Amino acid sequence: MEIVYSALKPTGKLTIGNYVGAIKNMVAMTENYDCIYTVADLHSITVNIPPAELRENTLDMFSLLIALGIDPEKCLLFLQSHVPMHSELAWILNCYTQFGEARRMTQFKDKSAKAPENVNVGLFAYPVLMAADILLYQAKYVPIGKDQQQHLELARTIAERFNNRYSPTFVVPEGIFPKVGAKIASLIDPTAKMGKTDENAEGTVFLLDDRDTVMRKFKRAVTDSGAEIIFSPEKPGISNLITIYSVFSGKSIKETETEFQNAGYADFKSAVGEIVSDFLAKLQSEYKRIRSDKAYLSEVMQKGATSATHLAQKTLSKVMRKVGFVRL
Ligand code: TYM
Repeated sequence: MEIVYSALKPTGKLTIGNYVGAIKNMVAMTENYDCIYTVADLHSITVNIPPAELRENTLDMFSLLIALGIDPEKCLLFLQSHVPMHSELAWILNCYTQFGEARRMTQFKDKSAKAPENVNVGLFAYPVLMAADILLYQAKYVPIGKDQQQHLELARTIAERFNNRYSPTFVVPEGIFPKVGAKIASLIDPTAKMGKTDENAEGTVFLLDDRDTVMRKFKRAVTDSGAEIIFSPEKPGISNLITIYSVFSGKSIKETETEFQNAGYADFKSAVGEIVSDFLAKLQSEYKRIRSDKAYLSEVMQKGATSATHLAQKTLSKVMRKVGFVRL
């Protein structure tokens, strides 16, 4: 079976953007592929994060992924820092990545501009670690949102470069993007991505938000001039809400427009809030059960790390041999 890899970084709490852009496809793909999924804790220290917060976010994220349907019986789920080969391969791949290539990454530019006091080398090398994650497991498909596309392109470039220089070593991966919702926008700024760590949390709906919070955030969502509920580039605010409604209701964009053709913005916003809150209420009760079961979580992590280490070691050994390291 072909291999699928994806990861999420625990810099903050999971959002509906993460769910719609990546996790929904990650869950669906567990049915037909060998899926390998990681909580990318190594990536999260490229920003300043207090240790207690990182630990909590990691366990929350791990539990939420299981509650969302990433069944550890059907795929591999583990923490990136439990498999040392990620860091080892990342170092090697750093030496096959050009400075200019890493400097062009728009996320690096955005993040350095937002936190000029902490433009660390890890932030710069971040996409190379991401390439190592994917290439270690010979993944063919990578379910991600639009904002990770440029990083995936770099992973492809690095894989092809290494394969050409030595001999075929890595599978060259392809991104899998959702047809609807590859970039969920912030509710307070529909031209920007909804992010885990946005300064103003009112624009972001977190998977662990309660019903009142979700309803408030949707009611206050920035909309556009006019009164019609139609999907159009001139109406980024309403289009974003239509996208969210469509994904959570399972209806198409067209069906959503028809359903609300006689409704006003206020009623539509309430309807979006309701459908998302219903989904989150079910998710959160399952999540609470899993999150409180420490023994189960450790067991899943341990099992995942053991199997992943075995797979990762195979690729890493091959790479080390090819570059010319003397092997024991
Ligand atoms: P991260 O943790 O920022 O986001 C996790 C996934 O969610 C998607 N996503 C979104 N999709 C649609 N709309 C949004 N507003 C939105 N916000 C986030 C992201 O595209 C991503 O798929 N570098 C990665 C983590 C990573 C990774 C990897 C991913 C590390 N190694 C290897 C794939 C393969 C990241 O920071 O994602």
